[in-house]
Amino acid sequence: MPLVSMRQLLDEAAKGGYGVGAFNVNNMEQIQAIMEAARETRSPVIIQASRGARAYSQDKFLYHLMLAASELYPEIPLVMHLDHGNSFETCKSAIDLGFTSVMMDGSLQEDGKTPATFAENVAVTRKVVQLAHDCGVTVEGEIGVLGGIEDGHGAGGTGLEHVTDPNQAVEFVEQTGVDALAIAIGTSHGAYKFSKKPDGSVLKMDVLVAIHKRLPNVHLVMHGSSSVPKELQDVINQYGGKLKPTWGVPVEEIQLGIRNGVRKINVDTDNRLAITGAIRKVFVETPEKFDPRDYMKPAREAMKKVVAQRMTQFGQAGHAGDYAPIPIAEMKKRYASEAVAAK
Ligand code: G3H
Ligand code: 13P
Ligand code: ZN
Repeated sequence: MPLVSMRQLLDEAAKGGYGVGAFNVNNMEQIQAIMEAARETRSPVIIQASRGARAYSQDKFLYHLMLAASELYPEIPLVMHLDHGNSFETCKSAIDLGFTSVMMDGSLQEDGKTPATFAENVAVTRKVVQLAHDCGVTVEGEIGVLGGIEDGHGAGGTGLEHVTDPNQAVEFVEQTGVDALAIAIGTSHGAYKFSKKPDGSVLKMDVLVAIHKRLPNVHLVMHGSSSVPKELQDVINQYGGKLKPTWGVPVEEIQLGIRNGVRKINVDTDNRLAITGAIRKVFVETPEKFDPRDYMKPAREAMKKVVAQRMTQFGQAGHAGDYAPIPIAEMKKRYASEAVAAK
């Protein structure tokens, strides 16, 4: 199956009332882990690459790995998405390469750190929407700012400084025409999200519900959605790691989100933890080993397990065969006719 449009995947998820995990990758083993999990659970899937991932892998390698994935797993609808694009140029280069979906994260300025104004965010996101839709490519925008910093990206802080304002969310969607909207509800990127199991004072599910009431037809996106399970932390620490106690987003809260319009759920940290724990275990238990396959195989298997579990928990499992892919050229025509109808 060719790479498909994220808009189609999320429209189908909305019809079926489920969420779709969007998993970050940097290399072949991570892509394989996700594809194996998708096959096992019969799930449609979104694979995403950040700017850091594109630089690390030389994104052409990543793109061709994605083509291999679509060829080897023809029964799986597969989206290739740019995570946290920081500028028009970053989004354009992803579209030129063949990504079928891009995130323009205009909530931050181009430095990826300084919160942008509403007007700046609208201006750059709108420009990306025009280009992307002309090419049949999906756009995710972001309003409000997440906490945390990963690989130099992020505003820092706890995530409570810039929680999304529902009124601004409505205006943002009207003014930009994005297909999906990432919102900030007190979450942050990375492993250190909360210092205890989060309650309503730190995880603002009420804000999410309010946004969904105002924008019932918009696909909402939850970033920073790793659950940071204690079992994964324990494996790392048992084999010489030094993680401090921490809490992530409970899966039940994500499921509540899914019942309230969340269609895309971003998960990276949980997979990083699973991979690191598996590798540490091999290094500690069999220090005589030095063939990378001896630790990359268990690492890939550990990530597959986490991804398959999330696919089941988010409800996408069993939906891979529900629909035939709409060619990107057809999406292009649909966006063009929507634009004419809106005039
Ligand atoms: O939102 C960030 C993702 O977890 C990707 O992180 O920028 O370190 O690749 P990265
Ligand atoms: P986590 O750090 O919680 O996995 O979030 C990943 C993310 O939001 C990628 O955009
Ligand atoms: Zn994110």
